[in-house]
Amino acid sequence: MTIPSRVKLVDVGPRDGLQNEKSPVPAAVKIGLVHRLQDAGLTNIEVTSYVSPKWVPQMADNHEVMSGIARQGGIVYSVLTPNLKGFEAAVLDRPDEIVVFGSASEAFSQKNINCSIAESIERFAPVVEAARAAGIAVRGAMSCTVGCPYEGEVAPERVAYLAGLMKQIGVQHVGVADTIGVGTPRKVQRAVEATLQHYGIDDISGHFHDTYGQALANTLATLEMGVWQFDTSVAGLGGCPYAKGATGNVATEDVVYMLHGMGIETGIDLDKLVDAGAYISDFLGRKPNSRAATALLAKRAG
Ligand code: HMG
Ligand code: MG
Repeated sequence: MTIPSRVKLVDVGPRDGLQNEKSPVPAAVKIGLVHRLQDAGLTNIEVTSYVSPKWVPQMADNHEVMSGIARQGGIVYSVLTPNLKGFEAAVLDRPDEIVVFGSASEAFSQKNINCSIAESIERFAPVVEAARAAGIAVRGAMSCTVGCPYEGEVAPERVAYLAGLMKQIGVQHVGVADTIGVGTPRKVQRAVEATLQHYGIDDISGHFHDTYGQALANTLATLEMGVWQFDTSVAGLGGCPYAKGATGNVATEDVVYMLHGMGIETGIDLDKLVDAGAYISDFLGRKPNSRAATALLAKRAG
């Protein structure tokens, strides 16, 4: 397998990144972040979720954020929709893509979306049907494909099983997520191999959290298998409220630095991306959780 010459990054910072923040982030700041990401050349941005505001209060402003964005042509704005109620609210805000999210482990499915894997598929099926009928792209996120905060190690067979169910209900693309960032290169490769039983390489993306510092290595390991689409988070923001202790996704800045250094195109302007990360990090009162951003900011200051 040859390494892809171009990679598509989906910045999930506004959604995965901010869903777990303790203090409220105003809609205007989220909109400011989305604007900076699109100015930096991101063509795919995961903006928000249409989930229960009791479960995830940070995403309660989904409508305000989606309707406040000055959209640019050619950019795919994605949102999470766990059920028909979420989809019906989301569709009014005209997302280009919706994301249904299931888990390879039963315990995480229960904790995250309050139902079993089988029930989640029953809930997703009408969402997928309605989205496709409306011409909206459908992505499926598969959580805990390597490890689960409640069940421990997750076997590749569980990943293949979930991918098969996603395929059956018409999900067009799936993301292989290491929700708690415990994966190492061979393990994430096995999760991708399991997914390949049901999806082609062009319909699979990587979504690696960096809790144990493995996410960049895992990105490279799956890139070498031909995966060319990754979810990343500006300034390394994020974590899932139902995966305690898990940190953010691999930082977009770190992935872009690595890819550009390998001669792989992303269409992203790293300097502007660093500005976007600095903007949200300044608001949150901390430094960007990205080594490349830290180095580039230090170089600028010097
Ligand atoms: P439920 O309690 O099973 O749902 O929640 P329900 O249908 O029984 O409804 C209960 C209440 O929720 C009702 O309100 C509904 O109206 C409301 P009440 O009568 O009590 O006032 N409700 C909703 N409100 C707004 N939007 C909706 C919605 N659905 C029901 N769509 C549900 C099921 C999925 C809604 C709930 O469990 C939930 O919101 N969970 C949060 C899940 C979440 O956002 N997790 C984080 C994102 S996933 C993630 O981060 C992983 C990912 O990054 C990949 C990875 O890293 O692994 C994607
Ligand atoms: Mg995630």
